[in-house]
Amino acid sequence: MKIGIASDHGGLDLKELVKEILAGHDCGVLDLGTDTPESVDYPDYAQKALSALACGECDRIVLVCGTGIGMSICANRIPGVRGALCHDAYTARMSRLHNDSNCLILGGRVLGPAVAQDIVRVWLTTPFEGGRHQSRLDKIEKLAGNIIRDRSCT
Ligand code: RB5
Repeated sequence: MKIGIASDHGGLDLKELVKEILAGHDCGVLDLGTDTPESVDYPDYAQKALSALACGECDRIVLVCGTGIGMSICANRIPGVRGALCHDAYTARMSRLHNDSNCLILGGRVLGPAVAQDIVRVWLTTPFEGGRHQSRLDKIEKLAGNIIRDRSCT
């Protein structure tokens, strides 16, 4: 599995750690920056990783910022992206089982290294359950279109 990864300055240290964790799981890693502690805008780095995912350059992506919130907002604007801001192994596991998350989001100023390691391991190894969860994911993809249609009726 090839994983794209990007962060802003608030997620840089955790991004470097996650790269090591991914390599330990035999994943190919595509590092899309940032590479220095200089302040940058997280949407610019979200865009790099989201583009790589959209183009099929990688199978899944990991986004890291200070809290994970800004990266979550970016990721979940993009059709087909199921971004999961995970705080522990349980949320990581459920994000795969029920949401088929293809984008893991982490808060570099929130997580310690051991918890981050657990999250990444579980997110990489837990399969999607499918079934009733797939039909819910199908509804998510139709949400934006449905709202535009509803609005034009008022
Ligand atoms: C950067 O200071 C910080 O705002 C960013 O990393 C992130 O936490 C935004 O949601």
